[in-house]
Amino acid sequence: AHQWRGVIREYADRLPMLAESPVVTLHEGGTPLIEAQHLSELVGANVFVKYEGLNPTGSFKDRGMTTAISYAKGRGAKAVICASTGNTSASAAAYATKAGMTCAVLVPEGKIAMGKLSQAIAHGATLIQVDGNFDNCLTVARKLAEVHPVELVNSVNPARIEGQKTAAFEVVDALGDAPDIHVLPVGNAGNITAYWRGYTEYATETWGLAPVATRTPQMWGFQAAGAAPIVLGHPIDDPETIATAIRIGNPASWRQAEEARDQSGGRIESVTDEQILAAHRLLSSTEGVFVEPGSAASIAGLLQASERGEVPRDATIVCTVTGHGLKDPQWALRTADGTDIEPVRVTAEAQAVAEVLGFES
Ligand code: F0G
Repeated sequence: AHQWRGVIREYADRLPMLAESPVVTLHEGGTPLIEAQHLSELVGANVFVKYEGLNPTGSFKDRGMTTAISYAKGRGAKAVICASTGNTSASAAAYATKAGMTCAVLVPEGKIAMGKLSQAIAHGATLIQVDGNFDNCLTVARKLAEVHPVELVNSVNPARIEGQKTAAFEVVDALGDAPDIHVLPVGNAGNITAYWRGYTEYATETWGLAPVATRTPQMWGFQAAGAAPIVLGHPIDDPETIATAIRIGNPASWRQAEEARDQSGGRIESVTDEQILAAHRLLSSTEGVFVEPGSAASIAGLLQASERGEVPRDATIVCTVTGHGLKDPQWALRTADGTDIEPVRVTAEAQAVAEVLGFES
């Protein structure tokens, strides 16, 4: 019998950092690359979505958490800590549990989606709401990890980026080569850094392994307009967006994200909350793919570029959608103008349902 073994075992020869570590896995990775027919027609290109919501805890963080927790375990760590807008904490809590470690998570007060909060609690993490935003949480977590026996598992941990680069490997393995353009949301900027490393490693000879791809894609990153420090060129003290996953004002991997943009000939731009929610609706209603709002920033960015006439005709484009819609489902229950959508109520009679459906009697 065969099953996907998780990113460390599937890509062992490309993860030398993990060579000596025990493997803590929930069989993350191996996510589908889905042809997006409607989007393709809309922008005049071949668009695929890399559906990272199908990872074990519902986001791409699991790719970096299997590596970070495995590496920490190999070093004898008993406890991990992270700052999070929600998904990192859910993932850290699950993998720490699998590894038999304790986990503490620092989250910004009141701005975490319920699904993510529930996951961290379900997996037994010590959840601490901090009176501040994500950037404040990360500063505190870093300080604690410096002086206490606890491993920091945010993406400033090199093992995180190593694991997350495997998503780029999977894209190339599925398409046969790198796409022309890779689009993704940008928050703390770890993921764009990781994808760029993955694509670069696959296109060059690495550790004596022959190149797999003949080229690297342009990296297109999108921040939420109210939390777009890289676009504006300065940190934001009070980042605001409905896409709480990427509500970050001072990304830890800022410089690496700019490198990915510049070396790839790409772009980092912003999209408004309205654009994000429109893309969120479009994806669920035309492609059958349900994501959380932060994930829809990549789709919103692609649509924006298309409206500006900046999408090359017939290009192969991969958009990463980073987290599952069930993480933060409330946005599906609201129309574009903000009214709540209520289900239609009827009596338990076929005739009543037939009327609602417009069937002839
Ligand atoms: N999409 C989702 C769903 C996320 O949760 C995040 C980051 C991003 C995109 C941005 O990725 O930070 O690598 O640029 N979430 C982090 C967290 C900050 O704490 O869960 P990035």
